[in-house]
Amino acid sequence: MPNDIDFAALEAEALGAARAAKDEADLRAVERDWLDKKGGRVAALLARIPTLEPQMRREFGGAANRVKQALEAALDARRTELAAAQLHADLSDATFDPTLPAASLELGSLHPLTLVRRELEDIFTSMGYHVLEGPEVELEDYNFQKLNIPSDHPARDATDTFYCEPLVAGASLVLRTHTSPVQVRAMERLKPPFRAIAPGRVFRSESTDATHEHTFHQMEGLVVGEDVTVAQLVGTMKAFLRAVFRVDDLEVRLRPGFFPFVEPGFELDARCPFCTAGCRVCKQSRWIELCPCGMVHPNVLRAGGIDPERWRGFAFGLGLSRLVMLRYQIDDLRHLLGGDVQFLETFAPAAR
Ligand code: PHE
Repeated sequence: MPNDIDFAALEAEALGAARAAKDEADLRAVERDWLDKKGGRVAALLARIPTLEPQMRREFGGAANRVKQALEAALDARRTELAAAQLHADLSDATFDPTLPAASLELGSLHPLTLVRRELEDIFTSMGYHVLEGPEVELEDYNFQKLNIPSDHPARDATDTFYCEPLVAGASLVLRTHTSPVQVRAMERLKPPFRAIAPGRVFRSESTDATHEHTFHQMEGLVVGEDVTVAQLVGTMKAFLRAVFRVDDLEVRLRPGFFPFVEPGFELDARCPFCTAGCRVCKQSRWIELCPCGMVHPNVLRAGGIDPERWRGFAFGLGLSRLVMLRYQIDDLRHLLGGDVQFLETFAPAAR
């Protein structure tokens, strides 16, 4: 062993340098001085091995490697220590206050139309109804002709609509003016007897005011069976109105109403469930007009591929938008699709 080298002193010096490091730059400098493969002090020691007497080489190499390993461990330890100190300094920095409440998470809420639609779907599915969806861009044929409204029928004026560029030659497309085309689509797909509702968006070319919009929501209802009657229609309407308005009983009345796809056709009114002196909902008439309905016209059953000699049906067209307005006492239809967050926030669960 060459006696010019004191490994213990060397190790003490190396570890001292590592422990004295104050930051990453210092640590790197120690690494460079000692551990660099070319100019480092450990490398210089190892480079001497070939010049030594063969019997000394092993011991010398071992001693040099121990210095190297001790230094590596000391550098690791110091690095961890410095990182912990830095973290502590960051956390106790005056600009960071871990006791502050977290930024609040803004939760959205369901649209009132969705709330009422889901409620209606619950009520009707509990009575055995399917929930169907029809296209908003509808074939003119389904929106009118198949519903017993020929092209020259004056009833078309009342629901003048937006016509679209045909996608297929000869197939005239419209934005549907009502959910009634789903009646025929339902007949084509479901085997009678069946019950179905079809909530959805409808469109009319209309100037807007508090009770008219070019876009609004309806919910169609259709029941087809062998012995369907007006009494069942009335009973069904009463059951659903009781559930929606949460009353034990609700008087309804039928007035004659004309819709080419029902015969006989009715307007169904209900006793105003909100009535107070000077009621603004029913304008003191004590009745609210709720739901056009009637017995499905044989031509419509035929258009849907159902034999009118064997099957009968009733249909109703609920003004979903109107029901939402009644339910939440909203005075202007335009609020519903206006996208005003302040308005919509009033339906957030906490606010309800
Ligand atoms: N589709 C009709 C409308 O939009 C309503 C209706 C539906 C009438 C079903 C009778 C039966 O005005």
